[in-house]
Amino acid sequence: MKTIIEPFKIKSVEPIYFNTKKERVLILEKAHYNPFLINADDVLIDLLTDSGTSAMSSNQWAGIMRGDEAYAGSSSFYRFEKAVQEITGMPVVIPTHQGRAAEKILFTILGGRGKYFVSNTLFDTTRANIEFSGAEGIDLLCEEGKHPTTPAPFKGNMDIEALERFIAEKGGENIPLCIITITNNSGGGQPVSMANIKSVKKVCAENNIPLFIDACRFAENSYFIKLREQGYAGKPVSEIANELFSYADGCTMSAKKDAFANIGGFLAMHDKELATKCRNLLVITEGFPTYGGLAGRDLEAIAIGLKEVLDEHYLQYRIRSIEYLTNKLIAAGVPVMQPAGGHAVYIDAKKFLSHIPIEQYPGQALVGALYTEGGIRSVEIGSLMFGKYDIHGKLVPAQMELVRLAIPRRVYTQSHIDYVAEVIIEVFNNRHAVKGLCIIEEAAMLRHFTVKLKPII
Ligand code: F0G
Repeated sequence: MKTIIEPFKIKSVEPIYFNTKKERVLILEKAHYNPFLINADDVLIDLLTDSGTSAMSSNQWAGIMRGDEAYAGSSSFYRFEKAVQEITGMPVVIPTHQGRAAEKILFTILGGRGKYFVSNTLFDTTRANIEFSGAEGIDLLCEEGKHPTTPAPFKGNMDIEALERFIAEKGGENIPLCIITITNNSGGGQPVSMANIKSVKKVCAENNIPLFIDACRFAENSYFIKLREQGYAGKPVSEIANELFSYADGCTMSAKKDAFANIGGFLAMHDKELATKCRNLLVITEGFPTYGGLAGRDLEAIAIGLKEVLDEHYLQYRIRSIEYLTNKLIAAGVPVMQPAGGHAVYIDAKKFLSHIPIEQYPGQALVGALYTEGGIRSVEIGSLMFGKYDIHGKLVPAQMELVRLAIPRRVYTQSHIDYVAEVIIEVFNNRHAVKGLCIIEEAAMLRHFTVKLKPII
């Protein structure tokens, strides 16, 4: 088999600014060991997120010019609406300025004290919006998903028995919604199988619980189904996506991922009554229902991106490029999430830095080391992001201590990725020199964005 090449040519480029290790040590110290507080110009390879960081196509840029900025009834909205309807089969499409705005609207309406939202794993903004409404978010991830370095094809699946038990315990009437995140971002970008979505739907339907999909990375998940699930190898990814959405009552989507847009999102659903409530809230928080917090040009870029992402040459390259980095790291003995996820490589920081106790945030320590060694920006997905305190102020750790290297879509070439692998392996070979961290300042919610830390000497 020949090399799977990037299925695009480069028309416009952005410079990378180089700095030295000595400079980066000072930059990290000034940023209080928090990658979110580092200036982007001080980063060589930015793997903080795959969200909003995609390279748009020449077609999308042409769409930006075509964007119709009419306040009401913009033609760009109708193209956007049609693109979403064609993929999801859902008649109601509500644009929002990004994924969390869709979540905020949905959970403001459905949430509240005494309610539970069940999921495979909720993303941090989803959980925060649920908790902000007074409700509780519950993760019911399958057992395979909890062991980062043990391979399995669908580690994003929901635990069906746990779901049934939870519903029996709390009562279906207290569960306004079940949300499946595809792919499971916080659980390593791992896919959910069609069979699992079908089973979840069955349990939900028996208990009158609507099923929503957090669809940020629906195309990557659909491609994994094609590769790994029996009966789908010969099906176009667009049809797999159609089937997947056919089991759902609605979805939230951040268009900043699989729609290759730099901003945007939406809510889509079948229920017209719920849609009316959502639109009423949309008008006072986002904007009129045919633009919902977006410019006409953004709607246009999303409509085009949603079609481009289903190109199977693109998806083959995309999934292969994540696997390429994962395999290089595995060959060097670096403990990584296996198999490779859809949008990112996840390092198991608990194993990588086994000399650092969880209370000293090994994931965040590794994020710092990758930055100083090679100017690579990554993010901790572990106890800094998801940890809580018990009543005695002791850290209740997250399920896993991961470091995510999210690969922006269509942005970096193979040599950038080779460099990333070299830096990680270098840090791995000198891992005993990496020190743990302690928190000096933190916010009550989503603390990882603003937290300040210092090394424990
Ligand atoms: N759901 C999932 C699964 C996500 O990954 C994200 C964002 C959101 C919802 C929220 O969307 O950012 O448009 O408001 N994830 C980004 C990330 C931030 O880095 O993984 P948003």
